[in-house]
Amino acid sequence: MDLTKIPSHIAIILDGNGRWAKKRGRPRIYGHRKGAFNIEKIAKHANDLGVKVLSIYCFSTENWTRPEGEVSYLMTLPIRYFNRYFNKIKESPYKIRFSGRRDRINQKLQDLMQELEEVTSNHEGLILNICFDYGSRDEIIRGIKKLYTDLSNNKIKAVDVTPELFDTYLDTAYLGDVDLLIRTSGEERISNFLLWQIAYAELYFTDVLWPDFDEIELDKAIISYSKRNRRFGGLKEQEK
Ligand code: IPE
Ligand code: IPE
Ligand code: MG
Repeated sequence: MDLTKIPSHIAIILDGNGRWAKKRGRPRIYGHRKGAFNIEKIAKHANDLGVKVLSIYCFSTENWTRPEGEVSYLMTLPIRYFNRYFNKIKESPYKIRFSGRRDRINQKLQDLMQELEEVTSNHEGLILNICFDYGSRDEIIRGIKKLYTDLSNNKIKAVDVTPELFDTYLDTAYLGDVDLLIRTSGEERISNFLLWQIAYAELYFTDVLWPDFDEIELDKAIISYSKRNRRFGGLKEQEK
């Protein structure tokens, strides 16, 4: 692997938990449990490689439409997971951040999210951006509302609104654009994830289901990324 070409910001649509469980004749929630325990492994490997930000899509604004039993499992899974690993996370290098809405999830989870952000705020390793009750359109609309308030209060002027400024109104403020977007499970769509932030991201799709996605699979994605010719609309010197 070319260590000079490690993406700074990787985003993962961790998909395929349900199918992973179904293949084993188990209920979908079994796949979610397995998938949750896979996150640490990938975060550790990304941190070891020098990745700065890892954004993971864990629950979308559209996932509320799933059967009630699955939704309530997905709302309590992070509580059990974080309580179990709280001390480990406190000692870890990861700086945890949450993107998404906070107003529809239970109070216990809201408090835990805030506490995790606080206790890891001075950590200097990988920023783990957990996208939960996250939808890109929802994030953009919330950003526009905040921007409108600042415009109305004359805190900023309309002429000052640039893409860079608007970026600071998003949940992902200061995390930077996504360099590499990975989606597991063979689906090749974005499903309302980081639409603004992936403007020039390299896309990588794999058939591997999320619970089976391991360090070797992450390496494969990064190797594929390192071979891409990122032009950002321009031309490289040798192409002119
Ligand atoms: C991804 O796995 C996790 C969430 C969306 C919560 P899925 O639950 O979408 O699994 P599949 O796509 O049905 O296999
Ligand atoms: C996207 O996966 C959301 C998450 C991974 C959290 P979905 O499984 O919900 O997406 P669709 O429905 O296949 O597009
Ligand atoms: Mg899915």
